[in-house]
Amino acid sequence: MKFRWFAIAVMALALAAPAGAQQPIVIKFSHVVAVNTPKGKAADYFKKLAEERTNGKVKVEVYPNSSLFKDGEEMEALQLGSVQMLAPSVSKFGPLGAREFEIFDLPYMFDSFDELHKVTDGPVGKALFKKLESKGITGLAYWDNGFKDMSANKPLRKPEDMKGLKMRIQSSKVLESEMRAYGALPQVMAFSEVYQAMQTGVVDGSENPPSNFYTQKMHEVQKYLALTDHGVIEYAVIVNKKFWDGLPADIRTTLEGAMKDATKYANDIAKKENEDALAAVKASGKTEIIALSPQEKAAWKKVAVAVHKENESRVGRETIEAVYKETGFKP
Ligand code: LMR
Repeated sequence: MKFRWFAIAVMALALAAPAGAQQPIVIKFSHVVAVNTPKGKAADYFKKLAEERTNGKVKVEVYPNSSLFKDGEEMEALQLGSVQMLAPSVSKFGPLGAREFEIFDLPYMFDSFDELHKVTDGPVGKALFKKLESKGITGLAYWDNGFKDMSANKPLRKPEDMKGLKMRIQSSKVLESEMRAYGALPQVMAFSEVYQAMQTGVVDGSENPPSNFYTQKMHEVQKYLALTDHGVIEYAVIVNKKFWDGLPADIRTTLEGAMKDATKYANDIAKKENEDALAAVKASGKTEIIALSPQEKAAWKKVAVAVHKENESRVGRETIEAVYKETGFKP
């Protein structure tokens, strides 16, 4: 009798896992923003393409909204192999020792996505990825979000309006000096904690593109959003190098193709996503949008330019000059 039960159990197991069936390769992809943002949508699109094109040999598990790791944890988790793929904002690479990425944080460096792409798609973008290799990280692509605006509970029209405000920033020394140049008090904080910090008054404001502002519901806790467009949120899609190099070559090639198409998708939708989010903020009636005249914007830019000089040694003069050449920026 016992033997019969044993035989039945063995048969059931054999049916559940047919000989030769292989477990899929799992890519955990963690990010900190909402699903309905440029990055959230592009991550989901990459998952779809990767799974379809590998016929299920690869499974991509996307963890949005800091649900697996948050800022300050995710880079180490990637290096340790607890997660295989991330898409952090390039403003978060300083603590890793790759401070040249803070070139993107120099205020008013980019006037348009075209200028930004000249840098990400050109030699500077490639050289920055090269710097990650010694840290056990491979850079795969750059994804756009958009241009940052300043928010607070008081109207911000002139740089002087920022004086004394506690402003949340990402972990970038360049952003720290940008806020100080405006007379504000910068406070580094994980993205997942910003809403509550605004709600409780731990910070007075922040800088983000409308898509992040709206999907994190910051319009519920910020009365004003000034369209300063003073900087960008750009992402680097990165993977654990050992994991990536260890993939079967055909799978890696297929995934590279899926990433290329997901990148095109990300960069095609980013502008419109931000326009829609800004319209939604306006429609909520909770946050007043402050449009700045060209003269008003010029005043913000004038203050910020000193930040470029101040950070020359941190970001690297050569890198800055290479970017000036691409963007035509004149200090
Ligand atoms: C932030 O921390 O403000 C942003 O980098 C979040 C993100 O990933 O867009």
